[in-house]
Amino acid sequence: MTGFDVEALRAQFPALSQTVHGKPLVYLDSAATAQKPRAVLDAIRSAYEEDCANIHRAVHTLSQRATHRYEAAREPVRALMNAASTREIVWVRGTTEAINLVASSYGGSTLREGDEILLTGLEHHSNIVPWQLLAARTGARVVVAPVDDRGVVTVEAFAARLSDRTRIASFAHVSNALGTVLPVQALTRKAHEAGAVVLVDGAQGIVHEAVDVQAIGCDFYAWSGHKLYGPTGIGVLYGREALLERMPPYQGGGDMIDRVRFEGTTWNELPYKFEAGTPHIAGVIGLGAAVEWLLAQDRVAMRAHEADVHAYARARLGELPFVTLVGTAPHASGAVSFTVNGAHPSDVGTLLDTHGVAVRTGHHCTQPLMERLGLPATARASFAAYSTRAEVDALCKALVSVAEVFS
Ligand code: ALA
Repeated sequence: MTGFDVEALRAQFPALSQTVHGKPLVYLDSAATAQKPRAVLDAIRSAYEEDCANIHRAVHTLSQRATHRYEAAREPVRALMNAASTREIVWVRGTTEAINLVASSYGGSTLREGDEILLTGLEHHSNIVPWQLLAARTGARVVVAPVDDRGVVTVEAFAARLSDRTRIASFAHVSNALGTVLPVQALTRKAHEAGAVVLVDGAQGIVHEAVDVQAIGCDFYAWSGHKLYGPTGIGVLYGREALLERMPPYQGGGDMIDRVRFEGTTWNELPYKFEAGTPHIAGVIGLGAAVEWLLAQDRVAMRAHEADVHAYARARLGELPFVTLVGTAPHASGAVSFTVNGAHPSDVGTLLDTHGVAVRTGHHCTQPLMERLGLPATARASFAAYSTRAEVDALCKALVSVAEVFS
C-alpha cells in the first residue's frame, strides 16, 4: 500500500463510476486505452465549443486561439519526456503512425540492400510490420533478438544480434502483452556502439515509467495519447533534431511546406515538416490537457501506487491454483497476462465481463511472442493510476466463478 489518494484521483474519471451488467465497473484494460479525466474531457469540449477554427491559416480571433492552444501543448509534452526542444515533438496519429513515419522517412532514405533492422521477439505488430514493409522496399533484413521463457530480452541476447550491418534498432520500452520493462538505456548504448539509430516504442512506457529521452539516449521515442489519459487519434513522435532535420517529409500537403512551385518545393521548419494537412487540433489540445494534468500530480507517488497494484495483481493471481501467469520478468509494469486452466481466454474475458470486469483477451497484437510462448492467446489485466487493489480482488473473485464453469 502507498499513501497515494487513489479515490480522489478516481473521482476525476467519470467513466469509472458506472455499472456494467449491474456490477460496478472494474476497468482492467488500460493498456488498450485509458479512461479520461474531466480535465481532458473539458479541454476537448471547449476546443470545439469555443475555439473551433483551423490553425496556422487565418488572422481571425478563433484561429489565433486555436493555434495558440495547439502550439502550447508541445511544451508540457517536451517537459514530460525531457526533450531538448519543442521542435523535436511531432504530432502524429499515434505510436503506429510514428513508427511508420520513421521507417518510411528515415529508413526509406538511408537503408540499402543487406542492411539490418534489429527488433525483439516481444514487439507489438506496429513495431514489426512497418519494418517488414521497409525491408521489402529496400532489400534490408529484419533480425530479431530472442525473448526468454520469462518474457525477458537480455542485453546480451540483444547485443549478440547486432552486426556491422545494423542500421536501425527498434524495441518496446514496456511489453504491452506481458508488462516486461526493457533496459532501454543499455540497449540504446549497445545499438549506438554498433552504429545503429534507435527507436523506442513507448506506447506503454510513457504511462508507467519515468521517461527522459536524453538520459535514454534514443533517437526516436513514439507514443499514443489515448493510453496516457488523452484522446484517441493523436500521439507523439520525439525525434532528435539533427536527425529530423536530415529526414525527408513523410507526407506532402498543406502546412508542411515553405514555398511551393511546380518546379520544386521547399519544406517548412521542424516540426511542421512532418505535419501535413489539417491536424487533429482538438486531439492535440486534449493531449496537452492530459499531460498538464499528469504533470500536476505527484508522479513519484503515482508510479509507486501503480507498481503496488501491479505487484499485488501478480501475487494474488499467482495464488489461484487454476491460473498460470504468462511472463514473469523481474522488472515489469502495467500489465499481467495469464491463462485459466481448461478455458479459452476469450471465454474467460466474456465471463469476466458479466461480473463487470473488463480485461483484454487474445494475442494482444503480438502473434510472434504468443508463438514463442506456445500460446494462442492470454487474458491480460492492465492498470493505470486509478486502478486499485480492490479491483484486483474483484478480478480474482470473478475468476473463481469463471473457473467453476470450466472445472
Ligand atoms: N496496443 C494496445 C494493447 O495492447 C491496443 O491493448
